[in-house]
Amino acid sequence: MEDNNSHGNSENDREEGISRRRFISRLWWAAAGVVGIEIIGGLVASLQPRVSAGSFGGKIKVATVAEARAMPVGTVTYFPEQRFYLSRVESGFLALYRKCTHVGCVVPWQPDDPSEDGLAPKGRFNCPCHGGIFDRYGIVHSGPPPRPLDIFPISIEDAELVVDTGNTIERTGFEQSQVTEV
Ligand code: FES
Repeated sequence: MEDNNSHGNSENDREEGISRRRFISRLWWAAAGVVGIEIIGGLVASLQPRVSAGSFGGKIKVATVAEARAMPVGTVTYFPEQRFYLSRVESGFLALYRKCTHVGCVVPWQPDDPSEDGLAPKGRFNCPCHGGIFDRYGIVHSGPPPRPLDIFPISIEDAELVVDTGNTIERTGFEQSQVTEV
């Protein structure tokens, strides 16, 4: 009997040992799987564009060409999250960065102030910090800003106007080539 018991015990011990080893092995593979998934996830994330479409720093779809053509000349549309104004001028559009070229304050659009351009009777940008005034082209009319508001390039992709807020363009004045025609 003792022999049988001790034989049984040793079998039990062996089975316990095997199941413990299996358990540890499974645990190890599970841990390796988690690490592998994290590495693959990191690789996939590194292949994605750093800026998601639609946020400041990336490309923003603002309107279809048909919608853009329907906007009256003089219309200024604010995209606060994306930090720019879409300004409708005679032949097309400018995307004006809202950051003042003096010391960087946010420049608000004032639709009821007198216009500084010939596009509409009212509306201009007034910088609240030191009184800089800009027209719909982003050109300085008074105050200390040393140059016009910067612009972002606008392209037409799949019949939509797309503003690239990752690419700031400084200018010394207005030129027709800055306008994206629609
Ligand atoms: S920051 Fe705009 S005028 Fe000074």
